[in-house]
Amino acid sequence: MFSESFLMELADRNDIVDVVSEYVRLGKRSGANLFGLCPFHNEKTPSFSVSPDKQIYHCFGCGKGGGVINFIMEIESFSFPEAVEFLARRAGMTVPQQENDRESRHRARLYDANREAARFYYQLLQSPAGERGREYVSQRRLTAKTVKTFGLGYAPQEWDALAKELRGKGFSEQELLDADLVRRGRNGGVYDTFRNRLVFPVVDVRGNVAGFSGRIIGEGEPKYLNTRETAVYNKGRLLFGLNLARKSRKDYLILVEGNVDVVSLHQAGFDSAVAALGTALTNEQARLISRYKNEVILAYDSDGAGLKAAQRSIDILEKLDVKVRVLRWQDAKDPDEYIQKFGPGGFLALVEKSESQIDYRLQNIRRKYDFSVPEQKVDYLREATQLVATFPGSVERQVYAMRVAELAEVQADAVIKEVERQRRRQVSGAKKNLERENRAVNTVQPPERSLRYENPVSAAAEEGIVRLLFLEPSLAGTAEGLIREEEFTSKALGHMYALILARIREHRAVNTTVLSEELTAEEMNLLIRLLNKPEVLPHASEILQDYVRVIKKQQEAAEPSPDLRQLADRLKNDGKGYRS
Ligand code: UTP
Ligand code: MN
Repeated sequence: MFSESFLMELADRNDIVDVVSEYVRLGKRSGANLFGLCPFHNEKTPSFSVSPDKQIYHCFGCGKGGGVINFIMEIESFSFPEAVEFLARRAGMTVPQQENDRESRHRARLYDANREAARFYYQLLQSPAGERGREYVSQRRLTAKTVKTFGLGYAPQEWDALAKELRGKGFSEQELLDADLVRRGRNGGVYDTFRNRLVFPVVDVRGNVAGFSGRIIGEGEPKYLNTRETAVYNKGRLLFGLNLARKSRKDYLILVEGNVDVVSLHQAGFDSAVAALGTALTNEQARLISRYKNEVILAYDSDGAGLKAAQRSIDILEKLDVKVRVLRWQDAKDPDEYIQKFGPGGFLALVEKSESQIDYRLQNIRRKYDFSVPEQKVDYLREATQLVATFPGSVERQVYAMRVAELAEVQADAVIKEVERQRRRQVSGAKKNLERENRAVNTVQPPERSLRYENPVSAAAEEGIVRLLFLEPSLAGTAEGLIREEEFTSKALGHMYALILARIREHRAVNTTVLSEELTAEEMNLLIRLLNKPEVLPHASEILQDYVRVIKKQQEAAEPSPDLRQLADRLKNDGKGYRS
C-alpha cells in the first residue's frame, strides 16, 4: 500500500497529457478534451479523449478509461505497484520502500550487479580487448546498431576480469555468487561464470537485467551457458527479447528457439521475436505472452525436436486463447540461417504464407464441387461469395472475390458485385439484430463481460448514485440513509458505492487516483465511463432520491407478490411431502 499523499504527488507530477503523449499523438482540442487514436483498440478516427482538467482518459470506442496510473497499467501491462514505480521513476521521485524488506533490498543489489556486469561486457566489446568478440559479431553479421539495441557484450578469456571490476564497485563476493556472475572453484576461490563468450543480457519487462546467456566464441562446450536460477533469474518466467518485443507494433509475437534467432530477426525488422531461454515453453511464459499479444507465430527449428517443441507450445498457448500459426521452411536450420540465405523478404514471405488460412478455406470449398456440372459451379460461387462477404476490409473482399472468380473461371466483375450484395445483406441483418437488442435494453451494457448488468434499468440509477457521490460528497449522509450496498444489482457499482462512502466518512479524498488502487481495471473503466455521462448538479439531492426510487421499484418488480410467494412455498412443501 502506498500512502495517499504519495499517490497524489505522483499524479501531480505526471501530467496525464504528457504521459499519454509519449504513446499517443494527441490531436486538436474538442471542447475541454484532447483527442487521438486509441492505443487499446484499432480505429481510424480518434475516439480516445484525454481531459487535462480532470486528469483522466476515456475511449468512446472501446470504453477504457482511468487516471494516469491506470493508463500506464493498461499500456505497459503493469500491475499497480509496477505502474507506480514506473511513474515515480519518470518524475524523479523515490518510491517509498518497505524498510524492513531485506529480501527486496537484496534483489535490488543483484539487479544492480547485473546492470554493472552488462555495462562492463558491453564496453569491453567496444574496446581493443574485445577484438575477438567483435570478429565473432561480424562473422554472425550483426550490426553495431543491433549490438547496442540488445546490449550485447564480450566476456573475456580471463578468470576474474568481471569479479575484479565489480568488487571495485563495492559488490561483495557473496552478492556476485548470489547473482551467478561468479562461481566458486575447487580451490575455494571464485572465477567469472562467463568467459570467452558473446553475452546476451536477459532483460525482464520492467527493464531490469535479470541474467545472461553466453554463446561460446567459436567451438566449445557448452555452446550456450545461462545464468543459473537466482533470486532475480527464473528462466521459466523470462523470455529473451520480450522487453523489446512487447513494444512492437506487430499484432503477433514470433517465438523462436535461439537467442541468435531473436537478434537476427529484430535486425531484419521482425521486432516482435522472442525466445524461451533454452527451455520448452512454460505456462508462465505463455501467460506472459498473453499479457501482450494474442497471436504467436512459432518459428522453431525445422528438425524433429523443433516440431515436438512446437506441438507442446501450441497446446500451452491455445489453452490461454492465444492464436498460433506455425512457420514451415526448407533449406535452413533455423530462422537466423534462413534470413542469412534468403534475406528479410524471404522470411516475410514465410510469415505471409502462414497467414493465408483464407486461401486454405476457399480451396476447401472449391474441392466440394464438380465444375463440369453447371449447377455445382453456381453453388460453389454462392458459398464462396458468402465467405468472402464476411471480410471486413473492402480491398480484402475485392482481392478474394477475384480469386474466387479465377477458380471458377468466370468474370471477376460479376463475383465482386455478388460479394458486395451479400455484404449489404449481412450488414443490414446484423444491424437489425443490434437494434432489436438495444430496444430491449435501454441502457448501454458495459463491454466487459464480467460487469454485465443483470438489471440495466436499476444499474443506470446505480451509476447515477455513484456519479452524484463522486461529484457531490456532501450527499453521503443522505445516500447512506436511503440505500445500502447490498441493494445494488451490479456488484461492481455497489463496491464503488461502498468504497466512496467509506472514504467520505473518514474524510479522505475521493478521486480517480486514490480509487485506482482499490478498483480493478474493469471497474475503473466503468467508473470513468459513468463519470463522463452528464449529471444535473443543482438539484443533486432530489435526483439522488429519484435514483433510489428507481432502484426500489425494480426490487419490487423482481420480488414475487405475496400471493405468488405463498403459492410457491406451498408447492415446495407439497413437493417434499410427495417425495418422502
Ligand atoms: P541452438 O543450438 O539451436 O542455438 O540452441 P542457436 O541459437 O541456433 O545458436 P547458433 O546459431 O549456433 O549460435 C537454441 C537455444 O537453446 C539454448 C540457447 O538459448 C540457444 O539459443 N541452448 C542451446 C542452451 O541453453 N545451451 C546449449 O548448450 C545449447
Ligand atoms: Mn542458429
